[in-house]
Amino acid sequence: MNQPRMAGTASINPPSYVKHAKLIAWVAEIAALTNPDQIVWCDGSEEEYDRLCAQMVASGTMKKLNPVKRPNSYLANSDPSDVARVEDRTYICSEHKEDAGPTNNWMAPAEMRATLNGLFAGCMRGRTLYVVPFSMGPLGSPIAHIGVELSDSPYVVVNMRIMTRMGKAVYDVLGSDGAFVPCVHSVGAPLEQGQADVAWPCNATKYIVHYPETREIWSFGSGYGGNALLGKKCLALRIASTMGRDNGWLAEHMLILGVESPEGKKQYIAAAFPSACGKTNFAMLIPPLVFKNWKVTTIGDDIAWIKPGSDGRLYAINPEAGYFGVAPGTNSKTNANCMASLARDTIFTNVALTDDGDVWWEGMSKESPAHLIDWQGKDWTPESSKQNGQKAAHPNARFTVAATQNPVLDTEWDNPAGVPISAFIFGGRRSSTVPLVTEARDWIEGVYMAATMGSETTAAAVGQQGVVRRDPFAMLPFIGYNMSDYFAHWISIGERITKLGGIAPKIFCVNWFRTDASGNFVWPGFGDNMRVLKWMLDRVENQVDGQEHIFGVTPAYEHLHWDGLDLSKDDYKQITSIDTQAWEKELSLHAELFEKLAHRLPIQLDQTRRRLLQTLSA
Ligand code: GTP
Ligand code: SPV
Ligand code: MN
Repeated sequence: MNQPRMAGTASINPPSYVKHAKLIAWVAEIAALTNPDQIVWCDGSEEEYDRLCAQMVASGTMKKLNPVKRPNSYLANSDPSDVARVEDRTYICSEHKEDAGPTNNWMAPAEMRATLNGLFAGCMRGRTLYVVPFSMGPLGSPIAHIGVELSDSPYVVVNMRIMTRMGKAVYDVLGSDGAFVPCVHSVGAPLEQGQADVAWPCNATKYIVHYPETREIWSFGSGYGGNALLGKKCLALRIASTMGRDNGWLAEHMLILGVESPEGKKQYIAAAFPSACGKTNFAMLIPPLVFKNWKVTTIGDDIAWIKPGSDGRLYAINPEAGYFGVAPGTNSKTNANCMASLARDTIFTNVALTDDGDVWWEGMSKESPAHLIDWQGKDWTPESSKQNGQKAAHPNARFTVAATQNPVLDTEWDNPAGVPISAFIFGGRRSSTVPLVTEARDWIEGVYMAATMGSETTAAAVGQQGVVRRDPFAMLPFIGYNMSDYFAHWISIGERITKLGGIAPKIFCVNWFRTDASGNFVWPGFGDNMRVLKWMLDRVENQVDGQEHIFGVTPAYEHLHWDGLDLSKDDYKQITSIDTQAWEKELSLHAELFEKLAHRLPIQLDQTRRRLLQTLSA
């Protein structure tokens, strides 16, 4: 098995350190199907990274930024049709439709395999197939999971090297028969003999496909973000969530942060906000001056794997090694830690290029530069933008950067044992209705809050933006199985903690995004979110009061620290008030979701809804 084989025109030629016969056979099988010109086994070295980047600069996929302003950094501009996750084209192909549930797209595995075999046949003609071995979680740790992505996109390779533990060392862990999740990716743009390539190849037909039972991932047609970096949403969330359901743990769309008090007491918090709703920013928060000697540190900014320990506490790890974060809105006032992380060694995608070879995006500075090349490669000036409404950066423009460049990276960030979680926070983007912060009175009420969370859609996914949709646990696009079973799984984790003699973490619900009559955010957000975080930590420690309302417990004005922030009592009322009519509507939307989820829905959730409705109308 271990000899060179011919597949199409490419020979397999695995390096001698690859000793996994099944893996080699699978690479040969995919090469035979997709017909690449050559196969490159990636070793994850810096030399390889530099070489691929130079190759992409030569081919026009990337530009090298000014090495004085932004050392060792690149800008890639995607095709305008390939700028975000495609939820419509994302499938969970379980044997039974019911196991994917009513919130996922489903197709029978056999039918999907036939469709994909058609699309992948010869789809890498004229291109290179890269073999990308990666580990989600610290290399060799018992909680890590290994994937191997076969991709015809060098852009994917260099991003995977930043986002995961990628390279040769993965083969040592795999040995001759270790388990891995096979991930097949193609941009779906074969090149015929003599055909010139484009800067960002992709295909109008897109499929992001998961087979949860056999734990396989196939992605066709897109080179962007979560569609193509298959370790992230596909493996670490959709596939991992099914692993977690089967084995008693959780894979969540959550940041993990550490907070240390001036007395040196350290606590860890996990928070789920939907895409482009503030996880990266919250994970890197810089406390206002009044919180002198409080330190906030980052474990992760997007994904958490959480397991019950024998001590009855929940332990969380970040399976990623880098951040694929939203650029627009990021600046040195709102997130100086993030800006510092991006000073060098960063890949930017779909931001604008300045005349001196640096990057710019909306919200980076108050004044925009007088001239830019926008994300579509066109001249851009503040005047032209006023006239034609064109943004300099795409709203879902992103940076890819290693976690180790974060100045406030937590010392425990890659501890395979994880960190104990003291509280969960769930938050949506709601311009009205949902108050600044609410504490659930028990685990079930918390699960209910998370399960019924609504949020306005953002540019992170293709589709209409700014419309409220239910996004349970910020996981609507990422649960790899039936959502009702997922809710039941969360309830069972609470029961498991109790059985182990532990106390379930408190659950809070937040909303940083309520607006005034002119549409401006009332709450300053970012660093000032520390004021709310401090109240939550004090609640965990039973050190502060709150006021009970219909849905839970909320701080009164005097329960928060206001030094250094001018927010009037009226403003505070505006972002904490509960509008009975709006909440009647809100509860009817909860009922709509529950009806859609139908008979597998845990009974406790609809019971909670009925109780809340009764209290509201009393
Ligand atoms: P994904 O990577 O898509 O999962 O997003 P995320 O949840 O990490 O979102 P991120 O922190 O990148 O924030 C997305 C957008 O929301 C950016 O434009 C931020 O500037 C903005 N934002 C983040 N936190 C706040 C906040 O507290 N208040 C306000 N008003 N905006 C915020
Ligand atoms: C998200 O959309 O939640 C992201 C970006 O974190 S992507 O990797 O494209 O999924
Ligand atoms: Mn995300």
